[in-house]
Amino acid sequence: MSSVHLIDHPLVQHKLTIIRDQATGPKDFRDLVEEMSMLMAYEVTRDMPLEDLEVETPIGRTTGKVIAGRQLGIVPILRAGLGMVGGVLKLIPAAKVGHIGVYRDPDTLKPVEYYCKLPVDVEERQVIVLDPMLATGGSAAAAIKYLKERNVTSIKFMCIVAAPEGIEFLQREHPDVNIYTAAIDQRLNDHGYIVPGLGDAGDRLFGTK
Ligand code: PRP
Ligand code: URA
Repeated sequence: MSSVHLIDHPLVQHKLTIIRDQATGPKDFRDLVEEMSMLMAYEVTRDMPLEDLEVETPIGRTTGKVIAGRQLGIVPILRAGLGMVGGVLKLIPAAKVGHIGVYRDPDTLKPVEYYCKLPVDVEERQVIVLDPMLATGGSAAAAIKYLKERNVTSIKFMCIVAAPEGIEFLQREHPDVNIYTAAIDQRLNDHGYIVPGLGDAGDRLFGTK
């Protein structure tokens, strides 16, 4: 069974409360989602392996540590996952970015895939899938299934707000994928929205409602 990491750093929790507030407009919402994503990426990458590297300082030689092993890929789920990309890239500028387009059918709540473009060497990368909202878990599970069909073997999922229903579904569908979230909320409402959540993340990021 995969693990669920609740990122309870005070800075992350402070920013989360502001983006939950319906009075927060798209500009602040976007900025805060980006800042939270950068801070959360710090935790998500905590277990990255290191290797030694010798360097010459102006004073003498020393052996330091650098990231070893597989390179990173980040894959936002469109649209809302786009809001998290800039923050992660600030921390890991060498990461390659793929995109998977999935929207949730408003009646069935089932995921509908409409776009995919991944780095050519995606199967050799450790991939972090980004989406601010894990509600029923359908969109995340579909995106991860697609990545696995493309032979990606190392996948983490990073979101901002998760519902217990989505966590349970994702863990059942993909028990090998660890989940990182800033909040585990109460439940889903009758329309599949997270309670209390933050509303529709895509609309709030892009001002479409
Ligand atoms: C939202 C969100 C997730 C999905 C979560 O996307 O960004 O992708 O819903 O719901 P689920 O866990 O029940 O699948 P939405 O379908 O609203 O598309 P958008 O990002 O284009 O607005
Ligand atoms: N998608 C969102 O953007 N918000 C929710 O609460 C659920 C799904």
